[in-house]
Amino acid sequence: MIDIHHHLIYGVDDGAPDLQASLDMARESAEEGVTHIVCTPHASDDYPYNKPMIEQRFAELKEKLQSVVELSLACDFHLTADNVVDAVMNPLRFSIDGKGYLLIEFPSQVIPPSMNDAMFRLQAAGYTLIVTHPERYPAVLRQPYLLGEWMRHGCLVQVTSSSLYGRFGKAQEAFANELLERNWIHFLATDAHHPVWRPPHLKKGFEYVAERKGEETARRLCETNPRVAVEGGPWPGQPEAEGLWEDVPLQFAERAGAEKSRAGRGGADEGGGGEAKAGFWKKLFGK
Ligand SMILES: [Fe+2]
Repeated sequence: MIDIHHHLIYGVDDGAPDLQASLDMARESAEEGVTHIVCTPHASDDYPYNKPMIEQRFAELKEKLQSVVELSLACDFHLTADNVVDAVMNPLRFSIDGKGYLLIEFPSQVIPPSMNDAMFRLQAAGYTLIVTHPERYPAVLRQPYLLGEWMRHGCLVQVTSSSLYGRFGKAQEAFANELLERNWIHFLATDAHHPVWRPPHLKKGFEYVAERKGEETARRLCETNPRVAVEGGPWPGQPEAEGLWEDVPLQFAERAGAEKSRAGRGGADEGGGGEAKAGFWKKLFGK
């Protein structure tokens, strides 16, 4: 398996706190059957992407772990204005091994329309965007139609392995499982932060997917798609994402009463209820 979202590098964000924790997490991953870890330190207002320090520690870990697991370097890229400008000015700087696949993270509570402009600019600069753990953003849980819009505009989707079996809560579990059922997930990853508190458990997610959707799907989410992202290859064909192009609402949305809250909110988060559903990309391209 290849884990494409992992805060393995110590002392650069809220991930591994020290060298020993990094080594423990890497060994635990390897014992679970992970052969390759993509190191993804945050690039955010809280954790600026200190490239020299990150590269130095990445090289140190690569040397110490050469017989344990293969490593790639990437970033958990927050869509801040400074980050987007930096990424556009330095093409492919933050993507996985500089080969084009970029993991993006949104603000947790509110996703303003400016995020869509940022995503478009990144795509125009050559990045293939991977939306990280959509099931864990309150803003997406309130407005799940956003995910369909991002996917229709070429974004790929990474779900956190342990969300599928409820580690992040019931709503997150229900949302993640509906995405799985509909073939709306392209990658499963751990987003590991700590050997104890946020451990790198990918095997359990693999087995969960294998049981419900078959081993071929589990391998696609944990091995073959991650390999394409690591190698920077052209994105391969995938099983049909059910209901995506027909814009069939997620059942999760109905259960959560999201339609009702959307209508009542009148665009506080996303520029206007039902109109926003079809309208924000039109607005973007209409400029
Ligand atoms: Fe992360």
